[in-house]
Amino acid sequence: MADIILGIESSCDDTSAAVIRDGWLLSNVIASQDVHKAYGGVVPELASRAHEQNIVPVVSEALSRAGVKASELTAIAFTRGPGLLGSLLVGTSFAKALGLALNIPIIMVNHLQGHILAGFVKQADKPVVQPSFPYLCLLVSGGNSQIVKVNSPLEFEILGQTIDDAVGEAFDKCSKMMGLGYPGGPVIDRLAKLGNPERFKFAKPRVPGLDYSFSGIKTSLLYFVRDEIAKDPDFIEKNKEDICASFQKALIDILMDKLVKAARQTGIREIAIGGGVSANSGLRERIVAEGRRRGWKTYLPEFKFTTDNAAMIAIAGYYHYLAGERTSLDVAPVSRMADF
Ligand code: KG4
Repeated sequence: MADIILGIESSCDDTSAAVIRDGWLLSNVIASQDVHKAYGGVVPELASRAHEQNIVPVVSEALSRAGVKASELTAIAFTRGPGLLGSLLVGTSFAKALGLALNIPIIMVNHLQGHILAGFVKQADKPVVQPSFPYLCLLVSGGNSQIVKVNSPLEFEILGQTIDDAVGEAFDKCSKMMGLGYPGGPVIDRLAKLGNPERFKFAKPRVPGLDYSFSGIKTSLLYFVRDEIAKDPDFIEKNKEDICASFQKALIDILMDKLVKAARQTGIREIAIGGGVSANSGLRERIVAEGRRRGWKTYLPEFKFTTDNAAMIAIAGYYHYLAGERTSLDVAPVSRMADF
């Protein structure tokens, strides 16, 4: 009999539900929350309320697009954390209630594991291209920047991670500070394509090993822009393309330095990227170019799997299900990775 998993994702500002059958994607529905745009960042309380409104229609839509009845589901996978507690609570409570009503197991999933395994979702109209184990995953999002050695779908080693801000945070905060909009990643990515990446230079962090730091470069951009605005109030408007191109290049350089080091140290040449920042066109080009130069096999997620989505939660849940893992109904969501 087929294993049909419903995935539920509600860790931040996207409410998503997906259905997979034996690892093959049947549907993936995402309701994004525009309400946060006016505030230049996600407002947790508003996010929780929007999840409350979205969760029932999003799950219904995912089931109907998949052509699957709730009674046919084998298990429900949900994001337990890390993320915003109020948002996670909506998805977790919904999964528990539905699991109880249908008398089927629920399976908790670590959101970051979902990002790592997003590339393992099989799609009927696409060739199946998956990294072989062990591989390295550069996991870059609004909350994390990590180099992860993936030994199997359920076995990970974090080789390096940020000691302060995440790279997505650097994109978002700097865009906000320059008045360019939110979320900053896509805005900076778009402007960077029009600018000269060599025009401005930013300080590089000196962090030992495979760890990252992005707070220094953020401050470096902040002071630089402040000094230039003092001389010319229109500095940002006149130079935003070059600022974005140079800043984005600096961030990518930092990410690539450590990734190259990790590949060298481990001898692993299967390299994947995941998380919201893996949508960045500059980063995608660099990974492919470095891969060609260094003999890596590189794996880039499809754009729809870079940001938060339930398909990645469903596939991660599927692997846990196959391994016999089941989650108790008294599970509570957790906001921090360390509590997982
Ligand atoms: O993975 P994600 O959707 O949420 C978290 O779990 O954090 O990542 C969101 C992050 C935001 O910081 C956003 O600015 C960034 O991903 N992002 C990008 C791009 N698209 C989204 N960063 C750089 N370039 C992009 N094209």
